[in-house]
Amino acid sequence: MYPPIAPTNYSFTHFPHFFLHHSPLSTNKILNHPANFVCKAKNSNEKIPKTNRNKKEFPELKFDRRDFLLIGFGSSGIYSTVANLKSLSPDFSNCVDAIKPDGKPVNCCPKSTSAAEISDFVPNSVAATTRVRAAAQSVSGAANMAKYKKAIDLMKNLPADDPRNFTQQANVHCAYCDGGYNQEGYSDLKFGIHESWLFFPFHRWYLYFFEKICGKLLEDETFALPFWNWDSPSGMVIPAMFNEIGSPLYDRRRNQDHLPPAVADLNWDEDVLPVRVNPETQIKYNLSIMYKQMITNATTPRLFMGQPVRAGDDITMKCGAGSIEIAPHNTMHTWTGNQWRRQRGYTGPGDPREPNTENMGVFYSAARDPIFYPHHANIDRLWTIWVNKLHGKVFTDPNWLETSFVFYNEDAYPVRVKVKDCLDLSRLGYAYEETPIPWIDAKPRPRGKYVRIPNSLEATQALPKTLDNVRIPNSLEATQALPKILDNVLKITVKRPKKLRSAKEKQEAEEVLLIEE
Ligand code: C2O
Repeated sequence: MYPPIAPTNYSFTHFPHFFLHHSPLSTNKILNHPANFVCKAKNSNEKIPKTNRNKKEFPELKFDRRDFLLIGFGSSGIYSTVANLKSLSPDFSNCVDAIKPDGKPVNCCPKSTSAAEISDFVPNSVAATTRVRAAAQSVSGAANMAKYKKAIDLMKNLPADDPRNFTQQANVHCAYCDGGYNQEGYSDLKFGIHESWLFFPFHRWYLYFFEKICGKLLEDETFALPFWNWDSPSGMVIPAMFNEIGSPLYDRRRNQDHLPPAVADLNWDEDVLPVRVNPETQIKYNLSIMYKQMITNATTPRLFMGQPVRAGDDITMKCGAGSIEIAPHNTMHTWTGNQWRRQRGYTGPGDPREPNTENMGVFYSAARDPIFYPHHANIDRLWTIWVNKLHGKVFTDPNWLETSFVFYNEDAYPVRVKVKDCLDLSRLGYAYEETPIPWIDAKPRPRGKYVRIPNSLEATQALPKTLDNVRIPNSLEATQALPKILDNVLKITVKRPKKLRSAKEKQEAEEVLLIEE
């Protein structure tokens, strides 16, 4: 079925952490990222289990007072944030080549503009929802999809130098992700929007303008993006309209093994050969992943949204993706992209095998696939679900709120936007169609694959009747006693750093017990 596997020079040297184990519930999936801009901090301790990387590396989950200063309660009663405010902004007027994972430069700079030409975005003064984003596979989503197809066609046919042209729009992502901009005020430090607390707001703004441009070209202000509802069983395949060869929505650089009816693997690992499970099992795994990433691993803004980065930070060292960014965000990128070469070690003519898992599986080219935007609409929707139904609050740090980005708007003028202005969707004019959330009670159960868990009757019979019989080693002994084959009940007492913690302390810092396989 496939051409024979030929030897290849392809190496994984950019991604040494990829060689760590793969388990169906591991979640450290890093999207193909140029070596220069990949979050390096995670390599500082190779023993960190993937799933808890964020928690372990950033134990200071507490607010750092030195990072900013709030001063002045003016007569208006509104405080202003000045002094040590360290919000990031891109040096938009001085775009440089971005770098691909293979080290080659790629020019994805937008039409150049001087700083003076950039105006500040003015948020809507009234809250009014005019655009409803619907699931691609739903009845209302079919209408969004049909318009979306038309809009992409119109975008692809704009003059190449129009900032609203489809390639230009795809380049926006490339320039922001792969080192196209320095931080304003720091000519030696890169700006970047992945693996940090900028992930959700940047992509929200990016889609906002993309959607407005579509609406402008369609002459339909009610146009709303469809979302790729991969967190729901009926949406776990590539939506039909993306697969029509010759359509403006078609992209040949997708994994040909993953076309419908293949069920998406929300925890896909591009570096291991896939273990095929039946669709029902895959759907169950997917719902468990969703539960884990939206609920279990997402109990604080930092864990869900990512770690803080501020002006003057080296983004390659101070970084850490939130739960959803790692998976399913990264994993669905790489699941969609073409990774045959990476997986099979194949180099040869014929199929559109791509060296860097283009298009969706690598940042510089991801947004060239029209499925990128519905994918990100779903990511954005999950953010709203987390805020409205699960956790209820986002960061209040002014450094986050005042972070700015620059985009060309629907009239092709450059505007500067701030994170704080994207938090109320009704002021951005859009909402998500309410759909069932099938993962909300899909709490994963421990599975028998790694440790045999006796059923409760067996456990009752097997366990010692009185506690006198159980020798509980202290933690030093635990270290000495392990590793041990889990062929019997093993009890270990682990000393907690602090036993009694206030509700506030619990909110701010996670206590994590790592059980390594
Ligand atoms: Cu900016 Cu889905 O990546």
